[in-house]
Amino acid sequence: MAEVIIVPSEQEAGRLVGDAIADLITDRPDAVLGLATGSTPLAVYRHLSDRVRRDGVDVSRVRGFALDEYVGLPAGHPESYRRVIEREVVEPVGFDPARIQVPHGDLEGIETAGERYEAAIREAGGIDLQILGIGRTGHIGFNEPGSSLASSTRVKTLTEETRADNARFFDSPEEVPMHCITQGIGTILRARHLVLLAFGAAKAEAVAAAVEGPVSTSAPGSAVQLHPHVTVVVDEAAAASLSQAPYYRHAWANKPAWQGI
Ligand code: F6R
Repeated sequence: MAEVIIVPSEQEAGRLVGDAIADLITDRPDAVLGLATGSTPLAVYRHLSDRVRRDGVDVSRVRGFALDEYVGLPAGHPESYRRVIEREVVEPVGFDPARIQVPHGDLEGIETAGERYEAAIREAGGIDLQILGIGRTGHIGFNEPGSSLASSTRVKTLTEETRADNARFFDSPEEVPMHCITQGIGTILRARHLVLLAFGAAKAEAVAAAVEGPVSTSAPGSAVQLHPHVTVVVDEAAAASLSQAPYYRHAWANKPAWQGI
């Protein structure tokens, strides 16, 4: 069962998860992180960059793999996940850009980009900690409902709902690409620790389906139930549909400090 931690604010989630990542890097300076984009993990990246500045956490050898990328955006497009990861994660935290990879969304070579990404993750020894958000459709990465629970990195078609949600980053909804390349659910499940974050009422149903619903391709986030080490960090609004919330609060309040997350 996933550990569910209900926090009062995104800032508190950022502190909790950012500290866990700082501890991981301190223990293992060449740790491999799985990096989500979107709004959800921003508080985590902010707290991690604060820790690096304040406590001198050495991130120079950390390696990272982004979860996904749009297919077919012009090189250097400000909303390509390569640029977003540089702007929101690599530059503020101070990671070495050469050690942070993003799936290749260029049309040239797209047929083999998934396999090449899987090989790069394998060569790095696998992902130690994978940060995940969840879409209103229930997607993790860009694995929309119907995605195989055993899938690897590959090209997928975005749902219209996800394109509409992501239109806020583009000048017009039509500009949101139709296709993406995303780590598969199988890829995500091979990471050693999954940390899924969600905030706001719009995510409540997706979170409940992921954590408490049946494991099903209709709710891709539910695949996390198959993983032995999952931490779900949600605010009150995103936790609103969880039937076991009183137990999650009780377990967190009584968790031995040495266990960490
Ligand atoms: C991002 C990703 C997506 C997002 C999800 C939530 O790399 O893979 O699964 O995590 O769409 O997006 P936000 O955080 O913007 O609500």
